[in-house]
Amino acid sequence: MNAAELTGITKRFGTVNANDAVSLSIRTGEVHSLLGENGAGKTTLMKILFGLHHADAGSIRVNGEAVTIRRPSDAIALGIGMVHQHFMLVPRLTVTENVIAGTEVARRGFLDMASATAQVRELAERYRLTVNPTARVENISVGEQQRVEILKALYRRARILILDEPTAVLTPQETDELFSIIERLKEDGQTIIFITHKLRETMAVSDRVTVLRDGRVVDTVNTSETTPADLARMMVGREVLLRVERMPVEAGDTILEVTELSVESALGAHVRGVSLQVRAGEILGIAGVEGNGQLELEEAISGLRRHYNGTIAIGDRELRGGPEQRRRLGLAHIPSDRQRRGIIGGFSVAWNLILGSQWRQPFARRGVFRIASIVAFAKQLVRDFAIRAAGLFAPASSLSGGNQQKLIIAREFSRQPEVVLACQPTRGVDVGAIEYIHKQLLELRERGKGVLLISAELDEVRALSDRILVLYEGRIVAERPADCDDHELGLLMAGHTEESA
Ligand SMILES: Nc1ncnc2c1ncn2[C@@H]1O[C@H](COP(=O)(O)OP(=O)(O)OP(=O)(O)O)[C@@H](O)[C@H]1O
Ligand SMILES: [Mg+2]
Repeated sequence: MNAAELTGITKRFGTVNANDAVSLSIRTGEVHSLLGENGAGKTTLMKILFGLHHADAGSIRVNGEAVTIRRPSDAIALGIGMVHQHFMLVPRLTVTENVIAGTEVARRGFLDMASATAQVRELAERYRLTVNPTARVENISVGEQQRVEILKALYRRARILILDEPTAVLTPQETDELFSIIERLKEDGQTIIFITHKLRETMAVSDRVTVLRDGRVVDTVNTSETTPADLARMMVGREVLLRVERMPVEAGDTILEVTELSVESALGAHVRGVSLQVRAGEILGIAGVEGNGQLELEEAISGLRRHYNGTIAIGDRELRGGPEQRRRLGLAHIPSDRQRRGIIGGFSVAWNLILGSQWRQPFARRGVFRIASIVAFAKQLVRDFAIRAAGLFAPASSLSGGNQQKLIIAREFSRQPEVVLACQPTRGVDVGAIEYIHKQLLELRERGKGVLLISAELDEVRALSDRILVLYEGRIVAERPADCDDHELGLLMAGHTEESA
């Protein structure tokens, strides 16, 4: 039987054909992976199934019955749950409050928070979704926020669970945990639709795969009968280099110098006396399990956090001010949290592309914006970085996840920086775009710029870096060349000492 059957789904946004007569059958109890480039229409299709968008044409059956899904509450009543690519949690509320929001049962007029908390705790333990039910969402990590979203769907008794790029925000360890959660859900008879850009994940967890391109279905295949190379070709429509080439570059003087940096964090992840130097023509990679001080390091270097001890300097100029001062001194920043730090969703694509430089020549003169210059500049970047948008004046929030990431990267690279602080630079972008972003970072290096790469993707750190520092519990515990042993690196990241590793 089919848990869900979508037939001839078509959805247009202005001139964009997000879904074009898409037909897709999801079998009960299977893990079905949806693949496709950024903007291929994956999220749109799933939002239609979840009642967040309305199809212009097409029909849906759930468990064999023709249904009309007007809003998420209809989908939830049909047992459909969705974990969004961009979380929809309320930061100031606790985990439990977020999980139960909208389903609260009051007892004698009072919300029984204690029993709700106990229920959430029980559900979390059953599926080993480790979270603290009483923590405020604004104080928990991105990985934990995702577990809250999964809990939210399970709490509403979802039987068909849509996971929209769940692993984009997870560490390799958390990804493995998610996969065992998926296994457990499957044993429970749940049906799972799993969106990812990582082909090896599709290969590892799915039973079948459907590839979308430009809003159309390319094909649905059995996972056991396909290969990553085949899938990449189906997605992009051409051969994709799954590995980049690194030219030899002679590293020059130190450009970015961090000395004895210590950061106290409310989250409990601290930075403790970190010193590092990024030289001209070098990519310095930070490897580590997320939550070991990466975020605090990022915030201190980028200027988003001003309270820290130690010094950060570009060349001989110490960075003391906020992000604006640091930008002026030649720092570009690709933030790990693109929704909060990278874009202003309600503003246009063009505006987001000049964000931070909007008062400068040629975008403004004597306090007056020069629209023609802004448009010309934005057009160029949209073309160079192949950003798929309905137009320059479409709100950035209407871009697909990967295209938002490309927008940020385009803007940051266009500042002609001396140093790029690149945090999770390819999170959520498709294989073709990863290839492009990696090439861009390597080109900066070849032009004698410096890159500090903080990424949870160990493969990425290894492929791009000249040297790798291992961050563990806020300290640099080891330095290794990029071609060091995988196993050894894993041990160091897990806290084993140099000697035992
Ligand atoms: N609310 C909206 N308004 C205008 N255009 C939209 C809207 N939502 C999506 N689009 C457009 O529809 C197309 C498909 O977007 P969608 O988010 O479904 O892609 P996706 O396959 O999920 O991509 P990604 O891998 O980057 O998340 C994109 O070109 C996007 O810009
Ligand atoms: Mg998407």
